Amino acid sequence: MKATAMAHPNSAIVKYWGKSDEELGLPLNSSASVTIAPYCTRTTVEFSKAYAKDEAFVDNEKASGETEVRIVKHLDRIRKLAGVSLRARVVSLNDFPLGCGFGSSASGFAALTLAASRASELDLRERELSILARQGSGSACRSIPGGFVIWRKGERSEDSYAQSIAEPGDIDMRILMVSVGKRKEISSARGMTLAKTSPLMEAWLAQKDERISSLTKAVRQKSIGEIGSISEAESLCLHAICMTSNPPIIYWAPTTLRIMREVLIMREEGIEAYFSVDAGASVYVYTHPEHEIGVSTRLREIEGVERVLRCKVGSGARIVGKHLF
Ligand code: PMV
Repeated sequence: MKATAMAHPNSAIVKYWGKSDEELGLPLNSSASVTIAPYCTRTTVEFSKAYAKDEAFVDNEKASGETEVRIVKHLDRIRKLAGVSLRARVVSLNDFPLGCGFGSSASGFAALTLAASRASELDLRERELSILARQGSGSACRSIPGGFVIWRKGERSEDSYAQSIAEPGDIDMRILMVSVGKRKEISSARGMTLAKTSPLMEAWLAQKDERISSLTKAVRQKSIGEIGSISEAESLCLHAICMTSNPPIIYWAPTTLRIMREVLIMREEGIEAYFSVDAGASVYVYTHPEHEIGVSTRLREIEGVERVLRCKVGSGARIVGKHLF
């Protein structure tokens, strides 16, 4: 009973930042993202009598504390569905920087969901996998499908899942993952519980349905400019909410601002590039294929930028043959 899966991270365009149901992981609003390749999480899960307890290793380190609790809880959900009581060994490897604002919990829980459900011989459809991944980490439900994805908030667990609205080949948008060294000090889960203390939260939620409709239209029209404008507006609102929460959360580093300013300067010069910032200091920059090299060269020159990873729109989570142990 062993399987290996891989899943890409996703970059939120219409952002999610709060739950209506903590236990089920139901979000306050619908959100949207783009799946990012080639970077990914690969995860092997084996259920066996040989294991006395669950053990997980993430990037060659034994998972402990909160990470371990979340992984075991997720394995329990899958065991319950599959009617399996065996303990598991989980080995997970990421090939992109962790904990700095790139969605490693999204790709991680998407890969874990697919690998563990296959290893426990569950035969789940994309929708069921997305529902399950959501309970591990909200944004993980958007790393199950590929391309451009919408997660409809739903009213109950069964109708809160993500679906593709465009396949990876439909819009050739390039995504630059601009990594800034600062590790995030406050988890998304904690940040979300504070969001309601911001006076801006209500106004932001009131705009969400309109933002989802605008994004759907932008994707239909294959307009990278429109997609990028929505991601910028959403990023600024998300961080305004974080900064005005009580206690305040400041995820940005000075370099984050330098990157955002450079993107705005490039646009004034006629180079179409847009920023998107999730819960961290690192930045995603969306652009057209013809500007990818030029934009990444300019971003690399900014003081404090550690790495610029060049990415394309990626496919959904999938089973792979090569196990990690
Ligand atoms: O699902 P989590 O706990 O990784 O939270 C994701 C939060 C943001 O990345 C900031 C926004 C989003 O929609 O992904």
